[in-house]
Amino acid sequence: MNILVTGGTGYIGSHTVVELLNEGHEVVVVDNFFNSKPDVLDKIKEITHKDFKFYEVDCCDEEKMEVVFKENDIDGAIHFAGYKAVGESVMKPMMYYENNILSTLVLCKLLRKYNCKKIIFSSSATVYGNPHTVPIQEDFPLGPTTNPYGSTKLMIEGILKDIFVSDKEWNIVLLRYFNPIGAHESCLLGENPKGIPNNLMPYINKVAVGELECLGVFGDDYDTHDGTGVRDYIHVVDLAKGHVKALQKLVDQPEVYIYNLGTGNGFSVLDLVKTYEKVNNIKLNYEIKPRRAGDIAACYADSSKAKKELGWEAVKTIEDMCKDSYQFVIHNS
Ligand code: UFG
Repeated sequence: MNILVTGGTGYIGSHTVVELLNEGHEVVVVDNFFNSKPDVLDKIKEITHKDFKFYEVDCCDEEKMEVVFKENDIDGAIHFAGYKAVGESVMKPMMYYENNILSTLVLCKLLRKYNCKKIIFSSSATVYGNPHTVPIQEDFPLGPTTNPYGSTKLMIEGILKDIFVSDKEWNIVLLRYFNPIGAHESCLLGENPKGIPNNLMPYINKVAVGELECLGVFGDDYDTHDGTGVRDYIHVVDLAKGHVKALQKLVDQPEVYIYNLGTGNGFSVLDLVKTYEKVNNIKLNYEIKPRRAGDIAACYADSSKAKKELGWEAVKTIEDMCKDSYQFVIHNS
């Protein structure tokens, strides 16, 4: 297929472009480098030895986005582009609502106009809010979300479902990601946020290479096996492969398909810290801090639906994730 990938130079987007190219798909990448760098394009080419088209365009810019559709015979889109920092979304809600929702509407308008009504959307486990039980299944109740970023994901899911109700020719896949970490084995692609990271693995990485002194563990009194928060960490390459598998649903019967992409395993903050120390043979400085506002005790997936319907399952271990994250950061700091 010829797939338009919005946000294709970002962390998950870039790994997905690699997997799409490796599987023989044609790819057209659109990105405005809001949260990524142009050199990612060359790195993708270096890994895959394949070429693809790129447009430096903001997905909210309908005129420029239309040029992409005019110049390419697009079969469908994978929509990664969007702002994603939870804390920033609390400070700048309008920016989040405008960008994340407008870009989706522009994309859908053009997918409809150019008669390729097929979209895979980057959603998040955040749409489940604080789940009553774990593991989380796709039909669990949604919301309430705890921040504007999460609200944009839930709203966009709702918009896409409404679009399908109005026009049953659409193929829509909502992929709800759990906690992606790790990096490409080439050490060319990975996550290296500017400034002080919000997420656990990028923070651990910066402590590991001495850029930050000490990891704060946010709370050790949760109802979990060691009191620290439990999450479903998934290797970003496994996650990327999930998108390639999900392409099948863009050519199946039109429908709204929904899948959790996680491993089904929950690891605590301290589990991750200890595994990272062990596999990389280093010591991480950490201290217990108060709970972070809005955090939940445990969140992990039941991913059996994706296994059954997409033939996809995560294969990389928590050890792989910790090794690859460290290798990436030591090669890129
Ligand atoms: N944590 C720490 N110290 C840190 C950072 C995080 O102890 O410096 C803890 C958190 O309290 C939590 C766990 O590490 O228990 C994971 O936190 P992350 O910030 O890495 O991830 P979250 O689960 O909070 O959020 C992630 C994504 C969101 C997404 C959400 C639900 O960042 O985009 O998963 O899918 F919405």
